[in-house]
Amino acid sequence: MRLSLRFIVPLVLVLAGVAYAVLPVADNLTVRWFVRDLEIRANLVANTIHESVRELDQAGQPERLVQFFAKIAEDERTYAIAFCSSAAARPVATATLPSAITCADLDRFTQPEGQIIQTPTGRLLVSVRPLATDRSPDGRLVMVHDMSFVERRSAETRRYFFYFFAALAAIVSLITVAIAQLSWRGWVQGTRALLRGEGLLRPAAEAQRREFQPIASDLRELIRDITGERQPRDAERAGWSGATIRGILHDELREQEVIVVSNREPYLHECVDGAIEVHRPASGLVTALEPIMRTCSGTWIAHGSGSADREVVDRHDRIGVPPDNPAYRLRRVWLTEEEEAGYYYGLSNEGLWPLCHIAHVRPIFRAADWEQYVAVNRRFAQAVADEAASADPIVLVQDYHFALLPRMIRETLPAATVVTFWHIPWPNPEAFSICPWRQELLDGLLGSSILGFHTQFHCNNFVDTVDRLLEARVDRETFTVSYRGELTAVNRYPISIEWPPLPMHTTRPVDACRLIVRARHQLPPEQLLGVGVDRLDYTKGIEERFRAVERLFERQPEWIGRFSFIQIAAPSRSGIEEYRQYQARVRAAVDRINRRFDHGGPPAIILLVSHHEPDQVYEYYRAADLCFVNSLHDGMNLVAKEFLAARDDERGVLILSQFTGAARELPEAMIVNPYDSDQCAAALNAALLMPEHEQRARMRLMRGLVGEFNVYRWAGRMLIDAASMRNRGRLLKRSGQAE
Ligand code: F6P
Repeated sequence: MRLSLRFIVPLVLVLAGVAYAVLPVADNLTVRWFVRDLEIRANLVANTIHESVRELDQAGQPERLVQFFAKIAEDERTYAIAFCSSAAARPVATATLPSAITCADLDRFTQPEGQIIQTPTGRLLVSVRPLATDRSPDGRLVMVHDMSFVERRSAETRRYFFYFFAALAAIVSLITVAIAQLSWRGWVQGTRALLRGEGLLRPAAEAQRREFQPIASDLRELIRDITGERQPRDAERAGWSGATIRGILHDELREQEVIVVSNREPYLHECVDGAIEVHRPASGLVTALEPIMRTCSGTWIAHGSGSADREVVDRHDRIGVPPDNPAYRLRRVWLTEEEEAGYYYGLSNEGLWPLCHIAHVRPIFRAADWEQYVAVNRRFAQAVADEAASADPIVLVQDYHFALLPRMIRETLPAATVVTFWHIPWPNPEAFSICPWRQELLDGLLGSSILGFHTQFHCNNFVDTVDRLLEARVDRETFTVSYRGELTAVNRYPISIEWPPLPMHTTRPVDACRLIVRARHQLPPEQLLGVGVDRLDYTKGIEERFRAVERLFERQPEWIGRFSFIQIAAPSRSGIEEYRQYQARVRAAVDRINRRFDHGGPPAIILLVSHHEPDQVYEYYRAADLCFVNSLHDGMNLVAKEFLAARDDERGVLILSQFTGAARELPEAMIVNPYDSDQCAAALNAALLMPEHEQRARMRLMRGLVGEFNVYRWAGRMLIDAASMRNRGRLLKRSGQAE
């Protein structure tokens, strides 16, 4: 709207100015045209009545001459008419002749400026013509025309002018605004395309690509200046990749060892029917970090939770992974059932998880859980110390399971660079302060050199919380916290996925996936499909999603039997009562909705409560017409990004909750409020009806963004910041020694 006003206001002002200047000129012109017409008319009348006037004058019958004139003056424009036989005579005239007109001074009316006189009844035009008769050789005819009709016309002309300029202003404004909006959109798309290294038109010709490359570089440079982000040369040239990470490790970090710590392990060994199987967990954290570790090797320390995990590790509890082509080391940490119950199920997932997510589930804080949490964090700190080959490794601590770990690592390895990433939202200070161990948690986290969140909003919340609850110095310009003599940088690193993701190397064509998935579920080939992929977690909004499908069928019954929704739901944290109840509610909702819309054909909802490996999940992504992500609250949500990565055919629609971090990066998705089932149902309907060209346009923009802002960039930016911090530390140390 502001953009439109910028065009409309000056335009209207200019047009009003032009109208103001033009109106008097037009008025003047109109008067001159009419005077000229009346003069011609006067000539005509004079010539026509010449003979009659001569005869009546000759006959010496002034009364008949007056009658004759009165007849002519019946014409609405003729105001009066008179005959002067000489300058000394009295005019023989109609009664309407103004007294100001006498035979003695007719000459003044022969001047152009003297022709118009003002009388109490209005303006009159006086025209004098010679009309000689035998009796009066100096006779003159006086014609007086009423000018009031000219004024009426002039007022009318002014009105028309006003309407004309108003219409002109409206039309020109409309056209200008339309062009401005189109150009702006084009410009934005062009700029985004440039930033992704494409041309303005797709596919970009090589020449065009080269032509715009400098502008793209300038824009990227500018963005980096604004965000203070550094980027290595090869990422600038070819986008972020595994090679970029290797480059950073080699050039900036001088092959310094990298240790990752997370609760969830990237590979689980499970005992299935007496055989050992390798499973990949349903975890956004693992999806993001695993490709990074494959690239930079190092050690990943995690809880060994697979039933056969102990059977495959060496005597130091280590194993090389990925199992078929080992690239890094997985160090497993064993927990007793009691420890797992207190640290993982208890404090982490019944306490911190609901505390940080606004999903209206009350957090539970038990002192016994807290004790286990502290003990397990200490156990992992010991594992880091055991695995570290140097005194100053880079330790990447993951998530809310390890809030105390950064401080503990700093105690044993003071020279380590600890980069902590909090994968879930950070709440506002009021919400966080209900936690009985709020200060301990903050103190633990501020042992980090860098603390990362997905969004700036979460960074702000964290810094506000520290400001409110701790004796710390917060610098909002550099976004650093100074606490206990040490500095922690609080930064935004939006997490992402590998591009292209691993399953895309082996997946089948989209058409084949569509057929396979439909056949698997006995659906007709033309059945429209929506897909949801989540852990069975109340924050994911699965019940709300089903309610939206139900609402769609209520509002648009024509979709019943033509559209089905497949929900892949990986069982999760089933040791917790809240999760068990959630699973029961989700199953009940599916039964109820399927019964309600049962028409003997395909079911409304197909619920698959089981673990699916990534290549199976990608098959569903590729088979679907839409993907529906409606978390009630989510740090990022990588399912949204995986769906985009899976659609190299540029088809399919993403419906995305406004309460995910991903929604801030993907405005081209259909953004919805998961609590508003009518809005979600309308989005489902619109997605099912969306024309192919629009799907393609949205997909291109979103795929371009995720391709560039991939997980290598996420990790690379953290590593670059860590490297800068280490270099700065070294410099300060050196100058300190010199003093
Ligand atoms: O979203 C937070 C998170 O830790 C993710 O990083 C991960 O995807 C998910 O939870 C997994 O949960 P869990 O490890 O408890 O199964």
